[in-house]
This record gives sequence, C-alpha cells and structure tokens, in this order.
Amino acid sequence: MNPYRSVLYMPGSNARALEKARSLAADALILDLEDAVAPDAKDAARDLVCAAIAEGFGARKVLLRVNGADTPWGSADLEAAIAARPDGILLPKVNGPADIARVAAAMGADHPSTLWAMIETPRGVLNALAIAEAPGMEGVVLGTNDLVKDLGARPGPDRAALVPALAQTLLAARACGLVCLDGVYNAFKDEAGLRAEAEQGRSLGFDGKTLIHPAQIAIANEVFGPTEAEIAESKEIADAYEAAREQGKGVAVLNGRIVENLHVETARATLAKADAIARLSAQSKG
Ligand code: COA
Ligand code: MG
Repeated sequence: MNPYRSVLYMPGSNARALEKARSLAADALILDLEDAVAPDAKDAARDLVCAAIAEGFGARKVLLRVNGADTPWGSADLEAAIAARPDGILLPKVNGPADIARVAAAMGADHPSTLWAMIETPRGVLNALAIAEAPGMEGVVLGTNDLVKDLGARPGPDRAALVPALAQTLLAARACGLVCLDGVYNAFKDEAGLRAEAEQGRSLGFDGKTLIHPAQIAIANEVFGPTEAEIAESKEIADAYEAAREQGKGVAVLNGRIVENLHVETARATLAKADAIARLSAQSKG
C-alpha cells in the first residue's frame, strides 16, 4: 500500500522543478508532458522527463502524464513512456475503456508500469466504471479544470456543480479497488481555500489531492493523513475486537459503542496507511 495524500504536478519542461521535486515531501509526482508544457517545448520536455525518471525520485511514486493519442505528440510520448518505465503512465482525457486498452496493448504483457486515467470529460465521467475496470488500471485522477470547462459549470467554494462527477468517479474507482485523486486547487497562495477544498475531498472519500505548487503539500499531507487521535482510536478498536474474539464473541463494545468486523477493517486500513506514511517519510529522509 502506498499513500497518495499529496500528488504534485510539475511541468516536464522545468528542469529546476524536476530537481526540486527530489527534496519535496509529496507522496507522488506527476511529471507532465501535457497541458503544463507549451507546444514548442514538448520534445525537449519528453527527453528531460525520461532522463529524470532514469535518475529516480527516491521512495516517491512517479506518474508520467503523456499527451493524448489525438495530438501530434501522443505517439512519441507513449513510446518514450513505455521505454522509461515510470511507476504509472497517466493518460489525459480518457473517454472510455478503448483508450486504456490501446495503451495496454502497446505496452505488452508484463510491463512494470501501471495505468492511470484522467477523468476530465463528461463522457469519461459517464464511462468511469468501464474505465476503472480496464486491465492494468491502478488509479484515476479528477481533472476538475477541464470538467468545469466542458460542463459549462460555475462551481463555487462548495463545488456543488462538480460533486456528482466527483462522486460518480469515486464510486467507480472504489468498485474496482483503485486509487482516486481529487483535482487541483488553482489559487495556490490561498491556504484556507485549499484546506477547505481538501477537507471536502477527504470527506467524499478521495485518497489525496493533486497539487500544482510545493506550498500545497503540507496541507494535503495533513488533511489526507490519519490524525494521532484516529490512529489511537483505531488501535483501541483493533485491540477491543481481538479481546472479544478471544472470548468467543463476534462483537465488542468500546466506549459505549458497538465494534463489528467492518469497523475493525476500517481501523486496520487506517493503521496500515499510518505505517505506509511513516515508512515513506523514513525512506525520504534516509
Ligand atoms: N513542482 C516542483 N517545484 C515547483 C513547482 C512544481 N509544481 N512549482 C514551483 N516550484 C518551485 C519553483 O521552481 C521555485 O523553486 P526555487 O525557489 O528553488 O527556484 C519554488 O518552487 C517557488 O516557486 P514560485 O516562484 O512560488 O512559483 P512560480 O511562480 O515559479 O510558479 C506555477 C507558479 C503555478 C506556474 C508553478 O507552480 C507551476 O508550474 N505549477 C505546475 C502547473 C502544472 O503542472 N499544471 C498542470 C496540471 S494542472
Ligand atoms: Mg486536463
């Protein structure tokens, strides 16, 4: 299990950002060849990013976002991504399972990279389950800026206009056991706004938030990581249940509340996440 609390986009054309990424506390990185890179810089960015992947980014997971198959750069990007073997290849504007199958076929069997899909078109949201079910998939990433554009929506701070699409994508990801990441918060200097939006994403069920600036990492790590109180409570729940089981009981009572198997599963997942976060931060320091 890997944490994906904070997942930072960086323009593939920005050598300084790529270097800086090696010292940042983001759980994962998205090296971008798509919208963050100007058309004139696409070829140079592709070379830069592939060299950076070969050098490695420590314990952080690295996703490489390629340009779409319908663009002039799509096939060269995909070829380079297949050769570079990042942890994941992130496909933009995925509309249906055929977009995934085409890339999986090009990768061939036994390729080590997993597949990730940007869900950022109305058709992609409507086909989210079929996309999530496609072989090779590990995660989905909401592209909220593109969705807002295509929907013609005006989401306010509560993102009410986006919640149906966010929730439908989450349902599809969870039905298939995939990682699911929320979209970016554009006003990267607005910490209170980011925190509120991250809290909303956490409440909906997202694993983490995609980010555009290093200053956003600490807030995402905090909001999407279990709190000390949650970790302590999870230990109590797991212990109480074990003690009840040893006495031949199927349920326990803790602080006046019933503890059943499903509560224990949630508690164990919280403890596993806390362990994974501790491991990642120890590896990043060491
Ligand atoms: N990843 C890694 N490092 C980044 C970064 C990122 N996304 N964004 C900024 N930095 C670095 C800068 O290189 C700079 O490093 P330095 O101090 O060592 O020189 C430092 O963080 C501070 O940057 P700052 O000056 O505050 O930001 P900026 O004005 O240079 O850039 C953005 C602001 C929004 C243009 C920039 O953050 C960015 O390009 N973000 C990614 C956008 C993107 O990928 N979009 C596509 C998906 S939505
Ligand atoms: Mg997009």
